[in-house]
Amino acid sequence: MRILIRGARRLDPAAGLDDVVDLLIDEGVVAACAPCGSLGRESADRTVVGQGLWVTPGLLDMHVHLREPGDEEAENIESGCRAAVAGGFATVVAMANTDPVNDTPQMTTWIRARAEEVGLARVLPIAAVTEGMRGERLAPLASLKDAGACAFSDDGRPIERAELMREALCATKTLGVPIVSHAEDVRLAPNGVMNAGRVARRLGVSGIPAEAEVAMVARDIELAAASGGHLHIAHVSTGGAMELIRQAKRSGIDVTAEVTPHHFTLTEEAVAEYGAMAKMRPPLREEEDVEVLRQALADGTVDAIASDHAPHTAQAKGRGLTDAPFGVIGLETTVPLTLALVRAGSISPLRAVELLTTGPARALRRPPPTLAPGAEATLTIIDPERRWRFLAREAASRSQNSPFDGWEMVGRAVAVILSGRPLMLPLGEETS
Ligand code: DOR
Ligand code: ZN
Repeated sequence: MRILIRGARRLDPAAGLDDVVDLLIDEGVVAACAPCGSLGRESADRTVVGQGLWVTPGLLDMHVHLREPGDEEAENIESGCRAAVAGGFATVVAMANTDPVNDTPQMTTWIRARAEEVGLARVLPIAAVTEGMRGERLAPLASLKDAGACAFSDDGRPIERAELMREALCATKTLGVPIVSHAEDVRLAPNGVMNAGRVARRLGVSGIPAEAEVAMVARDIELAAASGGHLHIAHVSTGGAMELIRQAKRSGIDVTAEVTPHHFTLTEEAVAEYGAMAKMRPPLREEEDVEVLRQALADGTVDAIASDHAPHTAQAKGRGLTDAPFGVIGLETTVPLTLALVRAGSISPLRAVELLTTGPARALRRPPPTLAPGAEATLTIIDPERRWRFLAREAASRSQNSPFDGWEMVGRAVAVILSGRPLMLPLGEETS
């Protein structure tokens, strides 16, 4: 099928392009990109009215928990991929903390096959760094990579033993994929449920101090520097850790970093308001931290915005702030919350798209997605002005654990086209 998108704003960070064009998709590739008004309707089987819309390379979320196998009540590969597409993501990176853990080539292969079968968003599995994520022995990294693991992570917990982390980082040099660190010194926060600070004291719950993250990021950066390996820091939440990452990048250490929408949108005050729905690891921090994260998103220190989509059942989240599991869903709210940064003047539209496409691709050492003619036609269409209300109960995810439930949003992904195949196109279509 030939699809013509007429008069949309092309945001292609790989090429540095931000302009209004007609874009023709044919045989699964971008066949032409021409000045607005130059491609006629006769060139396509289907013509989409692009006025006011953004067309971007397919968005990539590098931090998602799909929960299959093991907790299919909360999410499975199919519902997670549905949520991904509904949120505008063509590709998601699936974390290894399933049950059983993804620490075998068989499991990595199975996840890829299952995702293929579902046929929605593409799924790139991350495999565990250590066997069973127990932090004792390295998993078979080389064969996991051969089976299709795009990175390694024990996300959900830190790798406590420094010598194992160093060994893993050494391996990244030959394998060419990063170690994704959930950087948290858990001994500094044994029973913490939220940020250690004013709100935790008010609520009478124990806290997770900033230094739990800062200390581990400092250790990991030292190990990356010493080993020459590639370190990616997941979900940075503190200004202190971000400062360390900024300095490390300046001194040429191979470190990349991601930030989640909840960490750049909310502060610890949200826990007082939303309770367990605002409970995640690392926790929401303070106003000054949010400021540093936003600055780092703007100045290039941060490579990617990632959702850390972490579904949990209503029953599990219903156990109250102290006993509920950590995590919030995020696939369907990442685009509007990122666009809120654009409206606030913190980042440009092109930078927003970079943080959701070429940025995470670079952090994963993958080729940058682009809309250049000849490129695979995997793209996202966004209506940046669409006003809507996020209702968790209507979301595509199986779980509803979001602090943003009921929020008025501006901006929404309206279509994902995967290799020329439209996955949702409820758009104005031109008829002759
Ligand atoms: O809040 C979190 N939830 N943080 C993590 O690192 C893991 C995740 C989960 O798997 O639920
Ligand atoms: Zn994590």
